[in-house]
Amino acid sequence: VTIYVPRDAGALAVGADAVAAAITKEAAARGISVRLVRNGSRGLYWLEPLVEVETLAGRVAYGPVQARDIPGLFEQGLSQGRGDSLGLTEEIPFLKRQTRFTFARCGITDPLSLDDYRAHDGLKGLARAVAMTPAEIVAEVTRSGLRGRGGAGFPTGIKWKTVMDARGAQKYIVANADEGDSGTFADRMLMEGDPFVLIEGMAIAGLAVGATKGYIYTRSEYPHAIAVMNQALEIARAAGILGPDVLGSGRAYDMEVRVGAGAYVCGEETALLESLEGKRGQVRAKPPLPAHQGLFGKPTVINNVISLASVPFILDQGAEAYAAVGMGRSRGTMPIQLAGNIRHGGLYEVGFGVTLGDLVEEIGGGTATGRPVKAVQVGGPLGAYFPPALFDTPFDYEAFAARDGLIGHGGVVVFDDTVQMAKQARFAMEFCAIESCGKCTPCRIGSTRGAETVDKIMAGIEPAANLALLEDLCNTMKFGSLCALGGFTPYPVMSAINHFPDDFVAPPRAQAAE
Ligand code: NAI
Ligand code: SF4
Repeated sequence: VTIYVPRDAGALAVGADAVAAAITKEAAARGISVRLVRNGSRGLYWLEPLVEVETLAGRVAYGPVQARDIPGLFEQGLSQGRGDSLGLTEEIPFLKRQTRFTFARCGITDPLSLDDYRAHDGLKGLARAVAMTPAEIVAEVTRSGLRGRGGAGFPTGIKWKTVMDARGAQKYIVANADEGDSGTFADRMLMEGDPFVLIEGMAIAGLAVGATKGYIYTRSEYPHAIAVMNQALEIARAAGILGPDVLGSGRAYDMEVRVGAGAYVCGEETALLESLEGKRGQVRAKPPLPAHQGLFGKPTVINNVISLASVPFILDQGAEAYAAVGMGRSRGTMPIQLAGNIRHGGLYEVGFGVTLGDLVEEIGGGTATGRPVKAVQVGGPLGAYFPPALFDTPFDYEAFAARDGLIGHGGVVVFDDTVQMAKQARFAMEFCAIESCGKCTPCRIGSTRGAETVDKIMAGIEPAANLALLEDLCNTMKFGSLCALGGFTPYPVMSAINHFPDDFVAPPRAQAAE
């Protein structure tokens, strides 16, 4: 019998290795022959460690499972898919309602088995790209409507065309895997659960723009992803997917993993490139765009992991199949990450257009504490806080922007009614002060002054004047900062003030002191 126990960091953190060892031991004691596969995560994190057993009807899921549960589960008939299970994995509503294009294999295959990858449609996109001209590949990606999944939503095909058309003997592909947003884990889950899809997407990008070298820039906090990616790169190289002759195309492309030292701003593309060049991670002024002068001054495609990993599906199934789902100008799917105080935390890949309310209340099952939801922060620490009154907002770049919010990298962090929003506003300023690269004044100085001003408001010191000052400061940061770190910090601050004004009134004792 084949039994799956995830090797994803999220599963390991709650005891997956001990569960795997217990299964091996118990099966041996009972004389049952077990093939244990360490798969990636399905993204149903509240059920991890999620153990799956292969049966004729499909995989049967058990979770969350602890090592001490294993003897009892075997007694109930786990090896035949019987006993206290969650039923067929694919029938679990959280999974069944998804549209998995990019994460199609994640949690299903053995992440480091190329045979498994091929058996589940892997490398079909690259094989098709090898037979196409660069312009044809770029046109296909453009037609799919794919937009940058790092948060800015810039059309990927147009970025690739800029690099394809740029003159340069050397060009680069860079995957931004410096996933720093609060509540986000899609890049990590994908790299650990299906590393070949990122390699394939980057190889396709290389063929499209004429780049022979690629880098995955990731964070030191992701040791498992780094290890899996490095092993996958070796396997891909040995199989001729990477190297001087990609899949017999006569064209060269190879790549490696680089690890950052841990700075939020290194997720900003130009700071990332500086860091990759071995310099301090400071933001560069744009223009020139990285597409014209990027890594080492050469034309560079720099895309988020999810943007690149979405490309194999597009090349394999066709641009139209990808563009068929979504809403408005947001085509295809988004891996939304439900986190914070939420009952069903995990990764939910679905076409754009699902409402925030459905995500939080229906799919996520409301708060884990069972208390009412007060606020939801979408798009990382620089995203706006939305109250339940805005739960009808569809997940879409333009719809969120129209309500002074952003979807960012798809992180959704839920807070219950015990959260104090002035504290959250202060935290945004504090975070910006700590992570600021120091290059421009509005962010470097403004963030510290912002935190102080929130403190004054909460101490009851000239609250009306200080609120006006805070708003003025936010405008200065929004329009005067060089990059999104300083430029977007006003979103959480202003949304907290606008949607939760009662939280910015000083407690009675502070008021009396005025
Ligand atoms: P941007 O709008 O300046 O640029 C977006 C991308 O398009 C960049 O790669 C840029 O080089 C490229 N680009 C722009 N014009 C181009 C052209 N004509 N030709 C070719 N390429 C072109 O946005 P930026 O500053 O890169 O990112 C801001 C976003 O980052 C925000 O919307 C925010 O949501 C997101 N963000 C994401 C975080 C994460 O952890 N994923 C953290 C913080 C912010
Ligand atoms: Fe650096 Fe902040 Fe200016 Fe961005 S906004 S360049 S992080 S100082």
